[in-house]
Amino acid sequence: MIRHVLVAAVVLAFSAGAAVAQPKIEKGPIKQVPVSDAPLMFNTYCAVCHGKEGKGNGPAAAALSKVPADLTRISARNGGKFPDLTPGR
Ligand code: HEC
Repeated sequence: MIRHVLVAAVVLAFSAGAAVAQPKIEKGPIKQVPVSDAPLMFNTYCAVCHGKEGKGNGPAAAALSKVPADLTRISARNGGKFPDLTPGR
């Protein structure tokens, strides 16, 4: 009898801990969004790692071995100039 109570307590403690520690992982086909909508593209394809504000703190960031770059600081990290490849600039 006492053994059953202990097992129930361990299972309860484990599932309560798992509910707090485990983020919800959604798996499925990638959603296609129009290329003409840049904010929607960012939110769909990039924000999961880089975060909605681009600061590198999206919900998947903790699962990566390398921290996603803070995209709001690209120019600052390159001497104040955005490192694009646009011809003629
Ligand atoms: C699976 C997670 C993940 C997704 C999704 C993702 N990134 Fe990243 N990104 C990273 C990580 C991690 C780094 C840092 C890599 C490094 O430092 O070597 C990075 C680096 C970058 C950098 C380099 C910044 C710099 O200063 O060097 C750019 C730009 C970038 N990402 C843009 C994007 C864009 C745009 C998207 C969406 C189309 C995107 N990323 C989607 C994880 C991700």
